[in-house]
Amino acid sequence: MASAPAKVILFGEHFVVHGEPALVLAIDKRAYAKAEKREDKKLFIQSSNLNLAAYFENDILRIERGNPKEAKIKLEPLKYIAEKILETHGERVGLNIEVNSTVPVAAGLGSSAAVAAAVAAAVGALLNVKMSREDVFRVAYEAEKLVHGTPSGVDPAISTFGGALIFQMDTGFKPLDVKTEIPLVIGNTCVERSTRSQIEKVRSVKERYPQVVEPMMRAAREIVLNAVEALKKGSLDTVGELMNINHALLYGLGVSDESLEWLINAARKAGALGAKLTGAGGGGCMIALAYKDKIEQVLEAVQRAGGNAFIARKTDEGVRIEPS
Ligand code: PMV
Repeated sequence: MASAPAKVILFGEHFVVHGEPALVLAIDKRAYAKAEKREDKKLFIQSSNLNLAAYFENDILRIERGNPKEAKIKLEPLKYIAEKILETHGERVGLNIEVNSTVPVAAGLGSSAAVAAAVAAAVGALLNVKMSREDVFRVAYEAEKLVHGTPSGVDPAISTFGGALIFQMDTGFKPLDVKTEIPLVIGNTCVERSTRSQIEKVRSVKERYPQVVEPMMRAAREIVLNAVEALKKGSLDTVGELMNINHALLYGLGVSDESLEWLINAARKAGALGAKLTGAGGGGCMIALAYKDKIEQVLEAVQRAGGNAFIARKTDEGVRIEPS
């Protein structure tokens, strides 16, 4: 059994697509994967929370449970991971893989990457294939490409390594040493959206108003640089303020929506130091930062406003093997 954490983008979503830095945190919601050998040579993969199950045998997919299209999209990447590790192992053995995740899906929290990293680690451990964290990251990233087309790689990186990372497209990942606690409320609007169309929206605004959007890009970069300093000093007030400014920029680009604004305003009114959308926006999740003594109050306010909300904390634990 292995597990891996979900993530939130604290600063820099969308701007990161245009070359600016983003700051991401692993959070204490985890995806779990259990791997066992089978007597036969089949590969059986099931996800209890998605209610999906399928057999893979000689490249033929047989759905046992759930919507066939969804099963194919969600389970194929996991099959890819298992087969890659089986190749290294050398001998073809049958496997049962069971996924159990506490991460809300399709909400911008990196659930598929967390599952991919957990499956890679669980299968590697079961088959005694020595896998470094880099190996887990690499295979999880390849699997993510099957789900998302051309992802930046930030999700599998943070799920594998944990903690906090600065990510920039031209320079890659840099771990960020953050000692201070970052108490966050995550509020899920439960409004589904497509990351792809949100990215398109920003591209279109940037093309139509290059002179307006360029300074916004530079502002986003400055926000990240200032946030790094504020986090090092443990200055949560500044981090909160920067979150509000970052959200204003995202709002300006058109990627917020009514459901997010509703939850963000509720959090701010209840005493949050800052609140913003996280991920692609247009629905999905928002995050709010609060001092520990205010966090329950902010949580309740976001819940009352209709959000599916919970308290999350940064975790330094990336992918790990769980005691069986
Ligand atoms: O909502 P998510 O987790 O898919 O986040 C998307 C973040 C973007 O910056 C909008 C896209 C990206 O690839 O970085």
